[in-house]
Amino acid sequence: MTMIPTDLPTAIKRSDFAGDFLWGVSTSAYQIEGAAAVDGRVPSIWDTFSATPGKIRDGSTGAVACDHYHRWEEDLDLAQAMGMNAYRFSIAWTRIFNGVDAEPNAKGLAFYSKLVDGMLARGLQPWCTLYHWDLPQYLEDQGGWANRATIDAYLHYVDVMTKHLGDRIKHWITHNEPWCTAMHGNWDGMHAPGNKSLPLALQVCHNVLVSHGRAVPLIRANVPGAKVGIALSLHPVKAASDSVADKEAVVRHDVLRNRWFLDTLYGRGYPELALQLVGEDAPKVEAGDMEAIAVPCDFLGVNYYFPEEVIDAPEEYPLRTRIVYPQDRQRTDFGWEVSPEGLVELLARVARDYPTGDLYVTENGSSYDDHLDADGAVNDTARRDYLIRHLAAMRDAIAAGGNIKGYFAWSLLDNFEWAEGYLRRFGLTYIDYPTQRRILKQSGQWYSAFVRGAI
Ligand code: FCB
Repeated sequence: MTMIPTDLPTAIKRSDFAGDFLWGVSTSAYQIEGAAAVDGRVPSIWDTFSATPGKIRDGSTGAVACDHYHRWEEDLDLAQAMGMNAYRFSIAWTRIFNGVDAEPNAKGLAFYSKLVDGMLARGLQPWCTLYHWDLPQYLEDQGGWANRATIDAYLHYVDVMTKHLGDRIKHWITHNEPWCTAMHGNWDGMHAPGNKSLPLALQVCHNVLVSHGRAVPLIRANVPGAKVGIALSLHPVKAASDSVADKEAVVRHDVLRNRWFLDTLYGRGYPELALQLVGEDAPKVEAGDMEAIAVPCDFLGVNYYFPEEVIDAPEEYPLRTRIVYPQDRQRTDFGWEVSPEGLVELLARVARDYPTGDLYVTENGSSYDDHLDADGAVNDTARRDYLIRHLAAMRDAIAAGGNIKGYFAWSLLDNFEWAEGYLRRFGLTYIDYPTQRRILKQSGQWYSAFVRGAI
């Protein structure tokens, strides 16, 4: 058992939470699998993007990543040994289809089948994300998510996967963080496919939400007892000062960051204020779209990392806000503010303002510049403290009446962190990339001790 300093909320223990609370770790296909050209996998937009010079900070790609495609047994063993009872992963669409009219790839289907069997054999409840950003390149070549034909291709893929795995997977997440798919992918261009157009991003966002809404009944039809939801990246937004202008900036920032998704998913349509701000850049909406998006779900997945702090910035289109990074905040090595109270606030807000049903924290974690000590250990005390403080925050949110049923730490392994490549480590397990050796960090040891009830 690891020693915990006394100034942390160490009184936290697993028995503070319900006995059936889910304790898991979260991963995604492109970030860990590698084996990019193995067994019929074809390129995704992330293969193309990461191979483009200048797009990834360290010039790397996910071609090898953690080689999870070949080392999945060791990785699931690790999650089991840590005492987890749930495991969130995503399917690489590009292992299943190599073209619009193609038959499903038997090798891709077989890989996920044995992976899911491996989870069940180890007591890990499978939580499957159907789309974690890795759109097949052949679909991008036809306009990507901005083309409504991609919605149909997605539904076909969802149909095949839920029929294939629905006997064993009951928990399905249609999309991971549509804000990032749309905005990082197509507005600021930091992510694949790297476009820089607000109207394009908003159309992508709309079509992704429609694909979510239309996938939910399909999954339910294919999977008896299915629980279906979506995972959103949500950020509490706060004003950088007490000025009226900055407080109004919060409202405008929040309307696109959070309400654009929450209002539409819970049947209120796009917020009027947001439509005023984006004007002609608003997405084209077809008859029935908003009703489809508002389909009731079984749960909401909340991915929480940090709050955003904003000022009034009249020159910024369309929100007239700018994010600021005051020096006197505690931050991870990635620069993300450490704010467990933000998690309490966020969980209370979604439950207060929307009929979300069960809530799950589907991602939460921190990036620090870890190193292997001479004795072979990774003493990531800061990540361990981040974890303890966020679990305590979740306990407070539950005590305040929150309907939170599970927590998935991001991430089981260090992995390919998108535009940052391998420069950012979020794992509870250290990956020594040259050897692919897995080393459970101090944070992972603590999480394991906590979940096993040893502290
Ligand atoms: C989230 C992503 C996840 C990972 C974490 C750090 O936005 O869903 O894949 O990159 O951030």
